[in-house]
Amino acid sequence: MKNEEFIYLPEVVSTNDALALIVRERKNYSLDLEDVIVLYADWQSGGKGMAGNVWESNPKENILASFYFFPSVSPSEQFFVNIFFSLSVRRMLSKYLYPVKIKWPNDIYVNDKKIGGILIEHTVQGEKLDSIAGIGLNLNQTEFSASLPNPTSVKLETGFENGRVTLIKELYWILKTYINLLKTKDFERLKREYYWHLYRYQEFHPYNVRGENVMAQIIGIDDFGQLQLETDDGKVLSCGFKEVKQL
Ligand code: BTN
Repeated sequence: MKNEEFIYLPEVVSTNDALALIVRERKNYSLDLEDVIVLYADWQSGGKGMAGNVWESNPKENILASFYFFPSVSPSEQFFVNIFFSLSVRRMLSKYLYPVKIKWPNDIYVNDKKIGGILIEHTVQGEKLDSIAGIGLNLNQTEFSASLPNPTSVKLETGFENGRVTLIKELYWILKTYINLLKTKDFERLKREYYWHLYRYQEFHPYNVRGENVMAQIIGIDDFGQLQLETDDGKVLSCGFKEVKQL
């Protein structure tokens, strides 16, 4: 029997956690690994952000959704799942807004402002990963907590409101259509596309790297997802997520 692919719950602690629970249950029976399963909610009481942060969102105004898929990549290739998912979100959103950028590793940016965040959590299935990718995308919310540095939403950028389910379904079809890029390990193409849309790629800007302020440009991402910066005096710095801040 085909599993139900769209699950709606009005309120959850975190859509990633709720979906992980359902996937674990289904694995005990007969989860078809070709499935993409989506779970979305109106509100999260404990939405999770990157690096242990909290993800805040007004009820019913934004996309709070998680996608389960089996990308057929090994744990050492996991950054390509990030690339694939952030490119898919970017592609979906580009129908509504332009230009949509990806800020390393996977924030979604429009006009120098954050419109969406992604949190991907993996489990190992044999030698391969399976992934739950959560997206928080600001759609119709127009007022944000003052503690957020630079939030925006589709409504703020375009003046228009959009239906959450429409965009979630569009993202679902994009994931189904492009997942072969991951399954066939077309990493070169994924990386090339990621660079095309990478925020501040090959532009000099100020950064703080491990406590030191530098002027540098992004010159690439290594296969483990580390950011490669080149300083204005030609030094190459390789940085993990917590080691670098864009100033
Ligand atoms: C970030 O810090 O930028 C990542 C935020 C990711 C938030 C989304 S909302 C849906 C899914 N469920 C969660 O608990 N987190 C992700």
